[in-house]
Amino acid sequence: MFKKTNFNSRLQTLDGIVLELGFGDGRSLLDYHSDTNVIAVEKKKKWIENAEKMLARHGLENITLIHGSAENIPFREYEFDYVTSSFMLCSVYSQKTAISEIYRVLKPGGRYIAIEHTLSKNRLYRTLQKVLTRPVSKIADNCHLNSDPVSIIALQKFNIIKSVYFPYYLEPPLFIEAEKVI
Ligand SMILES: C[S@@+](CC[C@H](N)C(=O)[O-])C[C@H]1O[C@@H](n2cnc3c(N)ncnc32)[C@H](O)[C@@H]1O
Repeated sequence: MFKKTNFNSRLQTLDGIVLELGFGDGRSLLDYHSDTNVIAVEKKKKWIENAEKMLARHGLENITLIHGSAENIPFREYEFDYVTSSFMLCSVYSQKTAISEIYRVLKPGGRYIAIEHTLSKNRLYRTLQKVLTRPVSKIADNCHLNSDPVSIIALQKFNIIKSVYFPYYLEPPLFIEAEKVI
């Protein structure tokens, strides 16, 4: 059974400098240790305004919110110990660009930790994912049911440390932890 808590509990263990991409309602930002320096980038200004209020309510000063895009991360290379995302990659316009940006900003040995939708291993589900991608992306904020993040991650020099696939969903979640090698 899929539990997003697998991802959220991993966030609690991160130290150093972390970049979270596409935080949406921002609930995952509450999972980081309050000593961890987190930069959180989100494309939609509305989510940033909401998260600012939420962080103020919780008195969290270790998190910096930035308006920007995963496809053009506004930082130099080798800045981050970790990059994280949850259910973000499926809605970017270019996964290839986003993953190459994630690779660029990670320090050597840094890790990309994510929970993202992936292609189903079930043939019927996979066919449905492909057929429904276009109409669903139009009504669901560009969310692509045919997202296949591992094949894109494989285009960069990442070593997959952990990969946990949750079956029985039309959009099966995949927990992935990948280390940047150079
Ligand atoms: C399905 S929501 C997931 C939100 C949150 N991470 C969660 O797990 O609930 C996708 C989020 O990614 C953001 N997003 C989409 N494309 C993006 C991009 N290119 N760069 C940064 N954020 C992006 C959306 O605005 C939205 O907040």
